[in-house]
Amino acid sequence: MNLAKLALAIAIIAIAIQFVPYGKEHKNPPSTLEVQWDSPKTKELFDRACKDCHSNYTNWPIYANIAPISWLIAHDVDEGREHFNISHSVKAKTIKEAIEEIEENEMPPSLYTLMHKEAKLTKDERESLINGLKKTFLER
Ligand code: HEC
Repeated sequence: MNLAKLALAIAIIAIAIQFVPYGKEHKNPPSTLEVQWDSPKTKELFDRACKDCHSNYTNWPIYANIAPISWLIAHDVDEGREHFNISHSVKAKTIKEAIEEIEENEMPPSLYTLMHKEAKLTKDERESLINGLKKTFLER
């Protein structure tokens, strides 16, 4: 196969995968619970670092329309919401897990912070978010 044919084959595949329906819906279903944050700061940190995958207020970027990136994003949001979604009632156990994830710097995922620089939290910001999550969900 020569290079021109290879390029054509790649172009055809790239176009064909755009017709796969998965990942196009970009649903933000209604919330059944609005979090009463302990402070605007906690909300701001959560919005910056977590809300795209752990709430029904996902900000779907333009490139979420292009396969195969769209599949990756849809999968992250589906999985993320399944494990932990602040738009519905959240168990104390899940908040404790969230605190661990932040402490260990496992969340937000590094692929996400590569695309969203603002989501990367400093050590101080991670501490503020942990304290805020405790106050908001565990101490009242
Ligand atoms: C790009 C999407 C994305 C972002 C942003 C994100 N997460 Fe996640 N999160 C996921 C996915 C996907 C999973 C499920 C798979 C896994 O555990 O890796 C998950 C799982 C979790 C879980 C469940 C872990 C468990 O043991 O079941 C918690 C808690 C969590 N995330 C907290 C957070 C917090 C807190 C933030 C912000 C500091 C955050 N996440 C940011 C995608 C994300």
